[in-house]
Amino acid sequence: MIGTIRATISTRRLQSTGSWVAAIGCIGIAAYAAIAYAAFPLGALVHPQMKLAFQGHSVAIYTHIFASALALLLVPLQLAAGWRRRHAAWHRRAGRVYLALGVLPGGLSGLYVAQFAFGGDVSTWGFSLLAILWLGTAALAYRSIRHGDVPAHRRWMLLNVALTFAAVTLRLYLGLFFASGVPFELFYPWVSWLCWVPNLLLMAVYLARRPVLR
Ligand code: HEM
Repeated sequence: MIGTIRATISTRRLQSTGSWVAAIGCIGIAAYAAIAYAAFPLGALVHPQMKLAFQGHSVAIYTHIFASALALLLVPLQLAAGWRRRHAAWHRRAGRVYLALGVLPGGLSGLYVAQFAFGGDVSTWGFSLLAILWLGTAALAYRSIRHGDVPAHRRWMLLNVALTFAAVTLRLYLGLFFASGVPFELFYPWVSWLCWVPNLLLMAVYLARRPVLR
């Protein structure tokens, strides 16, 4: 009995620490993207070949970065259970902003910029599929809440957030690969898949093991 209570407390502690680390990751990457793209000339911080592509499609790139950063910034707020329960009306308003001003423009422009992503077909397919699933899970989450199906809404939203989190995991993998000494041209195409496939699988397993979400 005491063992079970201790295990429950340490699982909760782990979950709470994990949530804080994830929230800091979301806010940190959103802030990095907003500052880097507002304060520096377009493409100043990326590979020269990416810079050329970005400059040729600047409206799409700026739309993608600022809309996606807004979505990323709203994730910790929307997932905070206490805030959501106390301020249900604000959760709905922030949810509309997340979908209409974040995921929709961020995903459509992401799908567009994926067509000229650095790394050729592997990157184009990786990012395109990510954009389609990001938009698709958002549409299904919205549809389920319009039908009053809260459990389905939560499940679709958690899958959607796992994909939003690709912005954080992508930068983690970039850091790891840079440190490993593997050339950027070699690893970048694979990072376009690695940044979201494990996130989505982990969330799908988490949801499958919890038929009822609390
Ligand atoms: C989840 C769906 C997303 C898709 C499909 C997507 C797709 C892309 C693509 C194709 C590029 C161009 C990369 C290249 O030319 O090789 C890019 C760049 C970028 N994306 Fe996203 N992205 C997504 C989410 C996000 C989010 C949530 C953020 C939040 C900050 C973000 C921020 C950026 C930034 C800052 C860049 C410029 C590259 C850099 O400075 O690292 N993206 N994205």
